[in-house]
Amino acid sequence: MIVQTIGIVGCGQMGAGIAEICALSSYEVIVYGRNEDVQPVCRGRVKQSLDRAVSRGKLSAHDADAAIGRVSGTAYLARLAAADLVIEAVAEDLALKQSLFRSLDDVLRPEAILATNTSSLSVTELAIATRRPDRVLGMHFFNPVPVMRLLELVRGLHTSDETLAFARKVGAYLGKTTITAPDTPGFIVNRLLIPYVVEAIAAYEAGLGSVEIMDSSVKLGMGHPLGPLALADLIGLDTTLAIADVLYEAYADARFKAPPLLRRMVAVGWLGRKVGRGFYDYRRS
Ligand code: CAA
Repeated sequence: MIVQTIGIVGCGQMGAGIAEICALSSYEVIVYGRNEDVQPVCRGRVKQSLDRAVSRGKLSAHDADAAIGRVSGTAYLARLAAADLVIEAVAEDLALKQSLFRSLDDVLRPEAILATNTSSLSVTELAIATRRPDRVLGMHFFNPVPVMRLLELVRGLHTSDETLAFARKVGAYLGKTTITAPDTPGFIVNRLLIPYVVEAIAAYEAGLGSVEIMDSSVKLGMGHPLGPLALADLIGLDTTLAIADVLYEAYADARFKAPPLLRRMVAVGWLGRKVGRGFYDYRRS
C-alpha cells in the first residue's frame, strides 16, 4: 500500500512530534484535535521544533518550510477519511482511546491502518473496538520524537503480518529503527524503564538525596543523558503515573507501584516540562 497521507490524533508533545517527522518524510499530515485552534497550536509546536533543528544545523530552512506546509489541523474527525494510516496519540485512557477507535473505524477507508502510540495499554483491547482488528497495531514513539531513534511496534493478537510489514516500512521511511514487541503491558521499553523511574522517585521521597543529586548520580555514574527525575519530567508525570498504574495492575509487582509523591504531584498539576513545573521548575530557565 502506498502511503500519501497520515492522520495524527492528538496534538500534545507526542502527536506534534510524530506530525513533524511524518511531514519531514514528505507525507501529507492531518492532525485531529478536539479544539477549534488545533491548526495554529499544532503548526506552532511543529514549527518550534523545526526551528530548533534548523538552528542546530540539522535541517535547511527550505526543508523546514516545506515540512510545515504539509501539516494541517482539523477539529473534524471525518477529515481523517483521506488518511492511509492514522496514528492515535491521546492521553493514556483506555475508554477514551476505545471510543476514538470506534469513531475512526467508521470514518476511515476499510484498507487504512490504525495505529496507537500507547505506552502501556493493550493494543488488542483497542483493536476489538474496530471491525479491522488485523489492521490495528501499536506504533510507540519516544520523546522527543525527532531525536529518539527507536520505534517500538506492538503486535496485538489480531495484527496481521502484512500490517506489521507495512509499519516496518513506514518506520524505516521515518528514519527509525523498529523493534517488534508482544502486546504485554509496558511492551519492552516501559517494562524496563518504569521500575527505574519509580524507584528513583521513591528513593527521592525517602530522602536519599536532592533532585539534583539523584539525577547527577545517574548522569555522571552511568552516562545517561538525563537523570531519572528529569526524564520523568520529560515524559510527563501524568503519563508516568498512568503507565505505572497499568503495569502495577497487570503484574501486581511492587517494582511498578507509583510512589505517593508521584500521585500528589500529578494531583496538584505538576506534570513536568509541558506545564513548566515538575521535579524541576522550568519557568525560571
Ligand atoms: N530535530 C532534530 N534534531 C534535534 C532537534 C530537533 N527538533 N532538537 C534537538 N536535536 C538534536 C540536537 O541537534 C543534538 O544533536 P547532536 O548531538 O548531533 O548535536 C541532539 O538532538 C541533542 O539535543 P540538545 O543538545 O538540544 O539537547 P540535549 O543534549 O540536552 O539532549 C535529549 C536532549 C535528546 C532529550 C537528551 O537529554 C536525551 O536523549 N534524553 C533522553 C530522552 C529519553 O530517554 N526519552 C525517552 C523517554 S521514554 C518515552 O518517551 C516513552 C514512554 O512511553 C514513556
